[in-house]
Amino acid sequence: MKILVIGGGGREHALAWKLAQSPKTHKIYIAPGNGGTALDCQFENINITDVQELRSWATTQKIALTVVGPEVPLAAGIVDEFRNHDLRIFGPSKAAAQLESSKAFSKAFMKRHGIPTADYETFSDPVAAHAYIDLKGAPIVVKADGLAAGKGVVVALTAAQAHEAVDFMLIDNTLGVSYNQGGARVVIEEFLSGEEASFIVMADGKNVLPLATSQDHKRLLNGDLGPNTGGMGAYSPAPIVTPDVHARAMREIILPTIRGMEKDGIPFTGFLYAGLMIDAHGHPKTLEFNCRLGDPETQPIMIRLKTDLVDVLMAATEPGSHGKLDEVELQWDRRTALGVVLAAHGYPLAHRKGDAIMGLPKDTEDAVVFHAGTSLNAGVLSTSGGRVLCVTVLADNVRLAQQRAYEVILGIRFDGMQYRNDIGHRAVKN
Ligand code: AMP
Ligand code: GLY
Repeated sequence: MKILVIGGGGREHALAWKLAQSPKTHKIYIAPGNGGTALDCQFENINITDVQELRSWATTQKIALTVVGPEVPLAAGIVDEFRNHDLRIFGPSKAAAQLESSKAFSKAFMKRHGIPTADYETFSDPVAAHAYIDLKGAPIVVKADGLAAGKGVVVALTAAQAHEAVDFMLIDNTLGVSYNQGGARVVIEEFLSGEEASFIVMADGKNVLPLATSQDHKRLLNGDLGPNTGGMGAYSPAPIVTPDVHARAMREIILPTIRGMEKDGIPFTGFLYAGLMIDAHGHPKTLEFNCRLGDPETQPIMIRLKTDLVDVLMAATEPGSHGKLDEVELQWDRRTALGVVLAAHGYPLAHRKGDAIMGLPKDTEDAVVFHAGTSLNAGVLSTSGGRVLCVTVLADNVRLAQQRAYEVILGIRFDGMQYRNDIGHRAVKN
């Protein structure tokens, strides 16, 4: 089979790496891919990003299966476009992708279907938004509606910060709120405390298959301090997701979501990622939905997955009113997987490009370096994005996985390289 992976980050490299292990795979194309996928002769990078062009390329190439990594092509309707031309693709339709692309949509959906989440109101009028903040007080959370590449959420510890966020999002309208008809909107919601986890499942419109649990580290600096990033590291399993929390998340959040989408006439197919906040009593609430896999959570999850991913995706995309994920069982490596992101100078603000990368080790059974912001020019590998590499390892426990990952990192060099030294600290037993 010829398989197409859409995207070019660490998540897509990990997906392609796993798909390449299947005996059913003949060739894997990645659009646009990165320096790491260019280096590996199992893969071919395709330099197309436009959805229609990708579809017509896939038709000509007779691509048997496409899997989508990032949210932007999903929100642009890539799945509808491929399906309308009888191409098999795993991901949500544009309408279903609103669970991520519109906070107002997803909050209203959760309210309608009784799915636990923070109390909230939606505003397009700044005067009303300011009045609501005065009424509720701080801490309070202000979220831009629409995709904002991780910059759309302000956890305001003071009312002044919340007012400022409203002005930034509604009055200045600097956060070009894309995929959002009717202008800028904000969701203002209750602050939730607890510990976060990433709960990711696959859905085929009806059936749900949970992936292994995971947790990421969103802040730039050790101790979970500093600015938010796309994620500086992740690990799987996540001990915070006990069997009881897992059962609750499935029963109270995931299953009602898949059923609710079906009932609303927009069945959800694809990876569904619920960002959970788990309180001291082990009760999870939904912080947000993503309609895709997490990055970097995917890297540790894929290295633990033992089942043939091509089989799983074929079952999930079986033609008909829904797929056959009910016939699939996932097997996981019992070891802990941990991924540490190596980021470029300046990340998460304007990051530097073009630093030469040296000392990359050969991948082994228990240590793989997934690429993200790298490019290969005339045989030279250099940095080209904010998150550059994700060193992903397997070991018998979190502490050993940390040791192994940081050992591998010691050999890797590029100017301005930054990473956290404490990935996994929440999972280490004291
Ligand atoms: P989101 O993009 O909605 O997941 O928000 C990004 C981050 O902001 C989350 O990972 C949380 O750390 C934080 N956050 C979002 N909503 C809340 C909330 N209601 N209470 C506390 N923290 C939140
Ligand atoms: N690691 C968080 C995300 O993928 O959104």
